[in-house]
Amino acid sequence: MALREIVVEGDPILRKKSRPVEKFDERLHILLDDMAETMYFENRGIGIAAVQVGILRRIFVVDVGEESGKLEFINPEIYEREGSTLFCEGCLSCPGKNGYVERPERIRVRAQDRNGEWFDMEATGLLAICICHEYDHLDGILFVDKVVEVEEEDLEDGEEEE
Ligand code: NI
Repeated sequence: MALREIVVEGDPILRKKSRPVEKFDERLHILLDDMAETMYFENRGIGIAAVQVGILRRIFVVDVGEESGKLEFINPEIYEREGSTLFCEGCLSCPGKNGYVERPERIRVRAQDRNGEWFDMEATGLLAICICHEYDHLDGILFVDKVVEVEEEDLEDGEEEE
């Protein structure tokens, strides 16, 4: 495993649409392992999309804590969204920025695992929020596009003008 460099806001690649994964090979497995390592050890994030390490493929990894553990999503499709909740988000690609985004309370998503097997799951709470955030990355959308309220601390720091 190896750490990969995180692409930050301003790089045009983050605005591009990622393409589906077609080959479920060793190269994909290395990428997934590297993404997880980068998420955990370098920046302590709870989710990371392939585009954030410069790979325009429909892949993300999330880990919001003990209950779900690490989950890998390849070619995901969120096909059900229910409810609405506000959560203060951040992003490895938008260092120093936080803000409240409206997300569904419950989702259903299907995706392929690292071997190409399809799975289907329901997610709620932080896991649902995290999946929606990463899913947006696959279509070139950043959480900062959807912020409805900037976090209070940012205002105090005067960072709102960035
Ligand atoms: Ni992000």
